[in-house]
This record gives sequence, structure tokens and C-alpha cells, in this order.
Amino acid sequence: MSRHKILVLPGDGIGPEIVAEAEKVLDVLASYHGLDITVEHGLIGGAAIDKTGTPLPDVSLEKARKADAILLGAVGGPKWEPLDISIRPEKGLLKIRAELELFANLRPALTAPQLVSASTLRSEVVSGLDLMIVRELTGGIYFGQPRGIRELDNGEKQGFNTLVYSESEIRRIGRVAFESALKRNRRVCSVDKANVLEVTQLWRDVMTEMSQEYPEVELTHMYVDNAAMQLVRAPKQFDVMVTTNMFGDILSDLASMLTGSIGMLPSASLDEEGKGMYEPIHGSAPDIAGQNMANPLATILSVAMLLRYSLGETEQADRVEKAVDRVLEGGYRTADIYSEGTKKVSTSEMGDAVATALKGFK
Ligand code: IPM
Ligand code: MG
Repeated sequence: MSRHKILVLPGDGIGPEIVAEAEKVLDVLASYHGLDITVEHGLIGGAAIDKTGTPLPDVSLEKARKADAILLGAVGGPKWEPLDISIRPEKGLLKIRAELELFANLRPALTAPQLVSASTLRSEVVSGLDLMIVRELTGGIYFGQPRGIRELDNGEKQGFNTLVYSESEIRRIGRVAFESALKRNRRVCSVDKANVLEVTQLWRDVMTEMSQEYPEVELTHMYVDNAAMQLVRAPKQFDVMVTTNMFGDILSDLASMLTGSIGMLPSASLDEEGKGMYEPIHGSAPDIAGQNMANPLATILSVAMLLRYSLGETEQADRVEKAVDRVLEGGYRTADIYSEGTKKVSTSEMGDAVATALKGFK
């Protein structure tokens, strides 16, 4: 039996293409560097709806429970948009996060020196950026009840959702943020909307109370509107940012552009024990699906996070990150990060370049 069991869920749109490149990387680690893994595949999202009628079939969930780590591509697309919201591809993703209690979503935004000029912001604003967004992932308005669309007495429709957090939910994500700051630059910025929303006043109070346990870490608070502004004004002021599910969804897309492209950002979604699911933060990009032009690096960097956080394979993770660095250094660029004077490559050429770099390492 292999030491580690990985479940791969390619999903929709560009998902299968980028995941295929990440699997090339796993293959090289297995055959050249002694990584002991077995890889299984499963259905999720629209691909699962088409084959089974549901966005997360029980077999996929069972495989996910048995795996040591999960690698996911992306879900969703226009084909499934006419479906009722309760059975859309995105529900499969939300369900697997909830069922496995993957409450801690780590979204690092690192600006690679080679990509400074790919950002839409001035290079002095983004160069050297190293930010960790810790997003709460299994609570908040994404999951709060009651929710729905109802008809009022006057016949008008009304949509409603509920933003709710309990102290224990806030505390467990707070702990992840403080612990992560201890390994970094010891600063946590908690992002809320405490000037308007009671639930985030509680969020702020719990974070403040927890900071007593972490005297080495400096805690600050920021309203989400200001945080969005500060992220584009002076992103390097942040070390760890901790926030709610929806604010984290929005701010992490924003932060990705600081690094040059949303195609560069990996993520880890972890449970209390460190078991996790790993995915690029971007979506299924239906507009470029099937064209072999998507950037596979966010998914490949998600493999590095998977090796580091769930499998404890630090050396293998270092190798993958080094190989990506090597390839960027060599001037390889997919369309989203291309600039004059660099080599424009396809999805599979980018994957091949990383695989080749990996083979060359001791
Ligand atoms: C993300 C995505 C998902 C989310 C969607 C696809 C449900 O945007 O992982 O950031 O909103 O969490
Ligand atoms: Mg998102």
C-alpha cells in the first residue's frame, strides 16, 4: 500500500486541463523523487451533474473521506446556470467543504519577482508581497439559515440570506490565523464590518479576546471596505489577514491581481486535523476552456501546498515551488502572464516545462 492516497477531482471548464498538468508533476515526483502515492479520480460539479444528476455524488464524498488529501480543479459554467441554485455545480464544492469540515481556507498571495510587471499595479507597490489570507470556509452567509426567495403578501418576491457566526466558529479560524502569523511576521489583521453588522462585532470581540493568548502577535482590525482599498494602496502592510467566508472570497480575488494573475494563486482548505483539499482560487474559466491556454501554475502550486500541509512532504513541496520558480526564470509564460520578451506557452507546455525542471533536480 502506498503511503499517501490522493483524490483528484478535475471538475469543469479548464479544471480537467490544469489538473492534468498537476498530475504530471505528481508523476515526476513519484518516478524520479520517490514520492509514494496512489491517485484516484472522482466526479464533482457540472461533470458530476451530467453523469449522475447531482453535483457531489456519494461515491465522490466517500472517496474524499478516505483520501489523505484532495486536489480539485474548478467547478461551474454557463451550461448549468439555468439549473436551480440548490443543484448547481457550486453546491458540490460547498457540500464537500462542509461535509469534510474544511473550515480553514489558506490563500497565500505571493508576488513572484519574475511577474512583478504582470500586475496591473506599479511594481514598487507589489514587489516582495507575501500575504496570507485566512478565509473562514464553512460558515457565514454561504451556509446561514434561513435562506431563499419568498413571495411577500403583495406578490413581490424577496430574496434573503443569513450571516451567522458562533463564537466557536470564530475562535477556530482565529486560531489558524494566529498560529500562521507565529510562523510568519507575527501580524494579524482581522477584517470585518463591525460598524454595521452585529455578527462581525462578535467576530471582532472574539479576535480581540484571543489575542491575549498570543502576546507575540500584533492584532489589528479593519473594516472590509477599507481593507479592499488598502490592499490596492499598500498591500505590503499586511502579513496575515483573517476574515469571513464571503469577505475572504472577494478579497482573495482582489489580492490575486497583486501577484500578476489569478492563474497563480493556490489554496488549501483544511480541517481541524490538517486534512485538506487543495485548489487554485480561480474558477472554471469557461471562456477559455478546451483551448489549452489556461495557466496551470495555481494548480501546480496547490500540489506543493498539498504535499506540505497534508502529507508532510516538505522536500517534495520545496521541489515543486523551485521548479515553478525555475520555469518563470526561464521566461515561460501562459497568456495571462505573458509580456513582451517572454515565451508564450500553452497549458500543457507549461506543465511539461515544470515537469522537466523537476526531473533535473537531485
Ligand atoms: C472560490 C469560489 C467559490 C466560492 C465558488 C465557486 C462557490 O469563488 O473558491 O473562491 O465562492 O467559495
Ligand atoms: Mg472566489
